[in-house]
Amino acid sequence: MPRFERLRQLVSGIGREHVYRTIYDEHYTPLIQGVEDLDFQGLEAFRKVDFQGKHVVDLGCNFGFFAFEAARRGAASVLAVDREANVLQGACLLRDAFGQNTVNFLACDIESPGNCLQGRTFDMAMLVEFMGKTFVRAGLVERTLAFYERLSDKELVLSVQKSYYVRKELGSDMETMRRFYPEAYLHGGAMHLLEYVRDFFKDRWNIQMLSDLAPGYEKPRKFMRLYR
Ligand SMILES: C[S@@+](CC[C@H](N)C(=O)[O-])C[C@H]1O[C@@H](n2cnc3c(N)ncnc32)[C@H](O)[C@@H]1O
Repeated sequence: MPRFERLRQLVSGIGREHVYRTIYDEHYTPLIQGVEDLDFQGLEAFRKVDFQGKHVVDLGCNFGFFAFEAARRGAASVLAVDREANVLQGACLLRDAFGQNTVNFLACDIESPGNCLQGRTFDMAMLVEFMGKTFVRAGLVERTLAFYERLSDKELVLSVQKSYYVRKELGSDMETMRRFYPEAYLHGGAMHLLEYVRDFFKDRWNIQMLSDLAPGYEKPRKFMRLYR
C-alpha cells in the first residue's frame, strides 16, 4: 500500500471542515488539502522558538503540524490535544510514518469541566491558530486564554489573526461585540484581537513578537512568545 494511503482513506471519511490545516509530509510537500495552507512566514516565526529539551503541550493540534514541528526542533515531548478523535487517528498515522515517537496525541475537549489537562503543567504551552472567527464572535477569547495560561508558568507560544472585521468576517455587529470586549479593542469596524491578547498577558509575562507587524489589516496569523 502506498505510504499515505491509509491516511487518505481515513481523511476521506472526515468532514472537510475538520481537516483544518493542509496535511504535509516531513518535507513540507502537501499530501491532503485542508481549509488553510501553511503560511511559510508564520512557520519561520514559529521556528524562532527554542524547543530544545522542553515538555510541550499543543492545544487544538488538528493533524499535528505544529506538534511535529516542535518535536523536529528538539522538544523532549509534545502532548498534542484535540477534541476530534478521528482527526487524531490520522495524526497518529502521520506520527508513525514520520517515526516521531516523542509526540503523543490525546482526544480531549478543553471546554469540558475536569478535562484531561486540568491541573497539568508543561515547560511550554502552544495555542496555534486555535482562536479563530467562531471564538471571537462568541466572546470565548478571555475564557480560552485563562485556561491556556494555567498550562505553563514558564513559556507560552501562540498565534492569532491581528484583527477581524466585525461585519465582513465575523458576521456580527459592534453592539454584540461590546458585550464581550472593551471599547479599546473595537475600532475601525474591527475587533483587534492581537492587542486584546497582548494586554491580557502584559502584566504577568514578558512578550516577544515573533512575527513582523505591518500597519493596518493583515490576515496571516501573528506568532508571539510569552516568557518569564
Ligand atoms: C483552527 S484548528 C488549528 C489547528 C492547528 N493548531 C494548526 O494550526 O494547524 C483548531 C483545532 O482545535 C480543535 N478544537 C476546537 N475546540 C476545541 C476544544 N474545545 N478542545 C479541544 N480541541 C478543540 C479543533 O478540532 C481543531 O482541530
